[in-house]
Amino acid sequence: MPMKNPQLNQHGELQHLLAIDGLPKAIMLQILDTAASYVDLEQRELKSLPLLQGKCVFNLFFENSTRTRTTFEIAAKRLSADVNSLNIAASSASKGETLLDTIDNLVAMQADVFVVRHATSGAPFLIAKHLNDTKQAHVHVVNAGDGRHEHPTQGLLDMLTIRHYKKDFSNLTVAIVGDVLHSRVARSDIHALTTLGAAEVRVIGPKTLLPGGLEQMGVRVFTDMNLGLKDVDVVIMLRLQNERMTGALLPSSQEYFKQYGLTPERLALAKSDAIVMHPGPMNRGVEIDSAVADGSQSVILSQVTFGIAVRMAVMGMVAK
Ligand code: CP
Repeated sequence: MPMKNPQLNQHGELQHLLAIDGLPKAIMLQILDTAASYVDLEQRELKSLPLLQGKCVFNLFFENSTRTRTTFEIAAKRLSADVNSLNIAASSASKGETLLDTIDNLVAMQADVFVVRHATSGAPFLIAKHLNDTKQAHVHVVNAGDGRHEHPTQGLLDMLTIRHYKKDFSNLTVAIVGDVLHSRVARSDIHALTTLGAAEVRVIGPKTLLPGGLEQMGVRVFTDMNLGLKDVDVVIMLRLQNERMTGALLPSSQEYFKQYGLTPERLALAKSDAIVMHPGPMNRGVEIDSAVADGSQSVILSQVTFGIAVRMAVMGMVAK
C-alpha cells in the first residue's frame, strides 16, 4: 500500500504544511493563487477576512525569528484568529517538559494550529504524527523552519514573489547563492522551483558550503560566482548560517564577500532586469552589498509583505 502523504487528509486536502518536498504541484498553486487574492501585489496592500474566527493559533518558536514569527502573528490576526506566541525561554520547556507534553497541554487549551520553528530537523513532522496517532487530527501544524531541513512558507513566499515579478517559471534561470549546506530556505526553494517548472535552477557557493546530492535534486552547481550569475533572471542570496556551522568552513567573512558577495558589478552579469531576493536576516557586507540590497532590482521587502499573504493562505487552508 502506498505511504499516506503526511501533509494531506483523506480527501487530498492540505492538513499540515510540513515541507515543499512531497507537496503536490496543484496544492502549491492553490496556496499561491489564494495568497495572491489576499494582497494587492502591485500596491503591497493586504486584505483581512474572518476565516479563522474562533480558532486559536499558537506560535511556538524554539529558535529566534523576526520576519516569520511576526508575519505569522499578523496573518493570524488578519484572519480573525486568537493568537498566542509562547515565550519558549520562559516556558516549562526550560524545566524539562518534552515537546510532545507541551503540545498535549496546548491542545487541552483548545489549540487549532501550531506554527513551529525548531532547531531540530523533523520536529514539525514529529508533532503532526503525534497529533494523528493520538486522534487529535483536528489540530494542524505549520512548519516555520526546522533545522537545516525546510522552511516551506519561505519557499512559497519566494515563489509568489518570483511569479509576480517574472510571471512564467518555464523561461526562468534562478541562482541560489551562498551557504546552501545549512540552508532550509535553499532546500524549500529548490523543491518549489523544480516542481513549478523553472527552466534552470543553479546553486552557487564554495565547495565547503554545498551539500552532496544537489545534481540529483535537479540543479546545476557552480563554485565560480561570475560564471553562475551569467544571464540569470533571479538571484536568491543566502545568509552564512554561522549558528549551524561546526568548525571553520571559510577563511573569513571578508574573504567570503570577495568571492561570493553580491556587488553591483557582479549583479551586472545577470540579466539587466534580474531581481534580487534574500530571505533575511541579511548580513550586509558579508553576502550582499548595501548598494544591491537597497537598489532598484531588490525585491527583498516585497518578499516580507507577500509572506503575510502566503501565511494567511496556508493557515486558512489547513484550519478552514
Ligand atoms: N526568513 C526568515 O526565516 O527570517 P526570520 O529568521 O527573521 O524569521
